[in-house]
Amino acid sequence: MKVLTVFGTRPEAIKMAPVVKRLNRYSDRIRSVVCVTAQHRKMLDQVLSLFDIRPEYDLNIMRERQTLAEITAHALTGLDVVLRREEPDWVLTQGDTTSSMVASLAAFYHRVKIAHIEAGLRTWNKFQPFPEEINRKIADALCDLHFAPTETARANLFCEGIDEAKIVVTGNTVIDALLDVADRDYDWNAGPLAAIPRDKRLILVTAHRRENFGEPLRRICAALMTIAMSFRDIHLVYPVHLNPNVKHFVEGRLSNVPNISLLDPIEYLPFVHLMKASFLVLTDSGGLQEEAPGLGKPVLVLREVTERPECVEAGTVKIVGTDSQQIVRETARLLEDSAEYRRMARAINPYGDGQASRRIVDCLLTIRDKNHLESLDSHHSPSVI
Ligand code: UD1
Ligand code: UDP
Repeated sequence: MKVLTVFGTRPEAIKMAPVVKRLNRYSDRIRSVVCVTAQHRKMLDQVLSLFDIRPEYDLNIMRERQTLAEITAHALTGLDVVLRREEPDWVLTQGDTTSSMVASLAAFYHRVKIAHIEAGLRTWNKFQPFPEEINRKIADALCDLHFAPTETARANLFCEGIDEAKIVVTGNTVIDALLDVADRDYDWNAGPLAAIPRDKRLILVTAHRRENFGEPLRRICAALMTIAMSFRDIHLVYPVHLNPNVKHFVEGRLSNVPNISLLDPIEYLPFVHLMKASFLVLTDSGGLQEEAPGLGKPVLVLREVTERPECVEAGTVKIVGTDSQQIVRETARLLEDSAEYRRMARAINPYGDGQASRRIVDCLLTIRDKNHLESLDSHHSPSVI
């Protein structure tokens, strides 16, 4: 069986790394080929080197300030050539980025079977997140096998009329990656965190979503400034995304504040150690909503809705939106009210047990005849958790 794994951005790379590693364990039965679109360059390469992944194909499509149409067009024509040459049995794609949507489309054009990892997450709002909600729906519409991370995601797919036999609940592969990296040693004083004080409560911040560009990001920055000024015993650490719409905007507003450190994107190993050392997390990222609760860190989500409701329902993640006063109020409450902090800071993990990639690869191995996907019976699937 030949499996072509396609990804292009930092979060996909982190979530695909354990799957690629697992596929490689079965080199006698699976020929694994990796193609990166390189929709991200530096932020992708950081992950490839950490997990020692050497892609067979690198489409190198990233351009400064690339538009969504440019990413789509360049990735699609690049993948067209790769698919023609490789003729895989399966294309594996992950998540909701434009690279994942395009990988599904390219595979469909070649009539190659598609398995979508992290299928079924929904906000049911076309523009939140933008363009990810629709990217994920397109990938789900095109794919033959849905690896849903949770029962909620499975139910969403079922509601949309997807055949239950083609949905396998696996957990999220991000937990596989997190557990792998969290156990590795890291010397805090040697790398990008060396200047971060350890004697203060650290607030980890990330924000990069397209729907937050402009006014919402201005309100987020204003809130961070107020928090930094109001609480001198805390230190904000914000690794800033390389998108110029984020980088220039944030650096223009938050540079040179003594208790705010703006960093370049940091490698996953130091980032996980930074998460572990943090008091709380403010973010609009998808992946952090999955990782931080597993480490017992409360998360305030700088968005209006989330496609990851599990930890909100469990009470360890709270949606606070992008209103400055609301962000300041909710952050202050966690800093000042230890009972409220303890209530949110429970380690919970609805996103898996670190075995998602094993379940995914086991499932692919059970599908002997690529033309008879119907043989996949969810009741006998080895991969339901
Ligand atoms: C993309 C994904 C988003 C995901 C995010 C994770 C789409 C449409 N968006 O958003 O779903 O949450 O990645 O980070 O798929 N850049 C660099 N170097 C890099 C990476 C980015 O310089 O390593 C700059 C470039 O100027 C690039 C810009 O960032 O044009 C935007 O990158 P792009 O992939 O279009 O969107 P993201 O905002 O990164
Ligand atoms: N991350 C990282 N370095 C950073 C910021 C984030 O390694 O400087 C990791 C983080 O732990 C998570 C992933 O990158 O696994 C999230 O990526 P991002 O925020 O770019 O995308 P999203 O999750 O919003 O799709």
